[in-house]
Amino acid sequence: MDWSLLNFARSGLAVLLSLLLILYWYIRIPNDMPQNIPTVPIYISIMGLWSDMGQDDIYDKWLRPKLEKYGAVKIWFAGRWNVLATRPRLLVDMFRHEDVYAKAGSQKKIPWSVIASLVGDNIINAHGENWKLYTSIMKPGLQRRITDSGPLLLKSRRFVDVLIEEQGGLDSGGVLVNPIIQRWALSCMGINFMNVDLECLEKPGQRLEQLQTIIKKTLFKPLFFNFPDLDRYPTLFPQRATAFSIMQEFGDLLVETVKQRIQTTDADGEQVVDGLDKALATNEITTEQYRANLKVTFLTAHENAQQLLNSAIWVLGSNTTIQDKLREEVLSLSTSNPTTDQLNSLPYLYAVILELLRLYPPVSQLINRVTTSSAVLGGEVPIPNHTWVGWNAYGVHTDPNVWGSDARTFRPERWGGDVKGIHGAVRSKTVQCHFIAFNSHSRKCLGQGFAVLQMKVCLFEMARRLVWVVDPDYELKLTSGGIMAPLGLRAIMTERVEVKEGNWQGEDK
Ligand code: HEM
Ligand SMILES: *[C@@H]1O[C@H](CO)[C@@H](O)[C@H](O)[C@H]1NC(C)=O
Ligand SMILES: *[C@@H]1O[C@H](CO)[C@@H](O)[C@H](O)[C@H]1NC(C)=O
Repeated sequence: MDWSLLNFARSGLAVLLSLLLILYWYIRIPNDMPQNIPTVPIYISIMGLWSDMGQDDIYDKWLRPKLEKYGAVKIWFAGRWNVLATRPRLLVDMFRHEDVYAKAGSQKKIPWSVIASLVGDNIINAHGENWKLYTSIMKPGLQRRITDSGPLLLKSRRFVDVLIEEQGGLDSGGVLVNPIIQRWALSCMGINFMNVDLECLEKPGQRLEQLQTIIKKTLFKPLFFNFPDLDRYPTLFPQRATAFSIMQEFGDLLVETVKQRIQTTDADGEQVVDGLDKALATNEITTEQYRANLKVTFLTAHENAQQLLNSAIWVLGSNTTIQDKLREEVLSLSTSNPTTDQLNSLPYLYAVILELLRLYPPVSQLINRVTTSSAVLGGEVPIPNHTWVGWNAYGVHTDPNVWGSDARTFRPERWGGDVKGIHGAVRSKTVQCHFIAFNSHSRKCLGQGFAVLQMKVCLFEMARRLVWVVDPDYELKLTSGGIMAPLGLRAIMTERVEVKEGNWQGEDK
């Protein structure tokens, strides 16, 4: 008998057993998690590691049946078990009681991670006193009424110019739209929140713009997205060390860019950056808080609109009936320079944007609240203290129990036929949590008004000057996680003859 071999085998077995034990301990479902809702198997959550299924397909296949039946599930995400809900009654409870279901983003959940280093403690993820402080400083800038549509129109005009130029340079096929959309979204964000014209459409390839592409790729790397604990070891994973330095570079460059802006006053009132500058100067906030809020405004104010416009080009470029109807309404204004009020008077334009937000909610899922005591969600689901809870907007918006049997059909008419009626529908559907693209109740989106206006301006300009169809070689694929949108969309852009010849309404473009 070879004792040394046996010992070797024994210790090998011991190591294996300990590893299994650690793994078991790491991924086991805590036994105080609610028993009356089902569990989504852990391999679904980490499927991104080996499959590139779109998030719509993943939802349909693995989440929809359970969520439509039970309204909530236990699901593994970002290194732990969470409760994810889609039943409106449960969501009303969650969103109305932020004292119990407290906002807490990655700065609380995974403070050592790359994503936490990107966003810090900010107006979106903060809770309590900090949130009140940030809101008092930033809300005026976030919610100011934009009376002059001119600057946004100019950026959308430039955007359409670039689409036409790019199409002209192609022998066949359509324009890859996302990189151009990103430049549009960054520009609109800059002039409205940072009080600076970033000129991303005029001068492509700037570092601040390049960094966005890198950041978006880095954040949603499935391995680190699912196992953020790995971010603790940047020396083992050099690519994470690089990621940390990219986040730092972005923050530094952004602060430098706004510092060097030419100070101008905006007729529609102070912008977010101006409010933050003042608060920093009077020591109301620290430098770290200043940076975190500047960065989160920069990111959230461009990325959601960017992805929504991708979805818009997809939907309207695959169904020209809808595009034609929109064009007819837009042309009925008989002007190429509509005022904000004129744009706001168009019901179909508004309804198309709402329907885009319903079926392609950019913020499709978030798990960024934590219970501050044990609680019974909606009087149904018992949740222990310090448990992470979240929601899935795509699920709510496509649930036939909520939206009827045609829940998954793109039908703008469902919102109503006149602006007043549509407003009412948005309000009531938001309060009931049937529509949560902008969240609801105490922590709803503060940039909602701006986001919708910006989309109206851009779709106005696109429909007025272009006819587009999705490239017949393009096959729809949505992002597999993170912000929801079509990936790699290409569309064939044709300039409308009436506009090109400049004889339309006798106006300059
Ligand atoms: C289509 C565009 C947009 C969508 C779909 C969207 C969606 C959302 C959602 C879902 C939330 C809740 C997040 C959470 O629960 O953690 C939110 C919050 C927020 N959004 Fe937006 N957003 C959009 C555009 C904007 C813009 C342009 C801004 C301007 C900076 C903005 C600023 C904010 C802020 C400050 C909050 C936090 C509010 C609070 O917690 O008090 N959003 N948004
Ligand atoms: C396009 O939209 C129209 C109007 O909503 C609808 O009737 C039609 O079935 C849609 N066509 C396709 C191909 O989806
Ligand atoms: C809930 O858990 C948190 C964090 O573990 C703790 O600070 C708090 O006191 C707990 N609340 C209650 C009501 O037990």
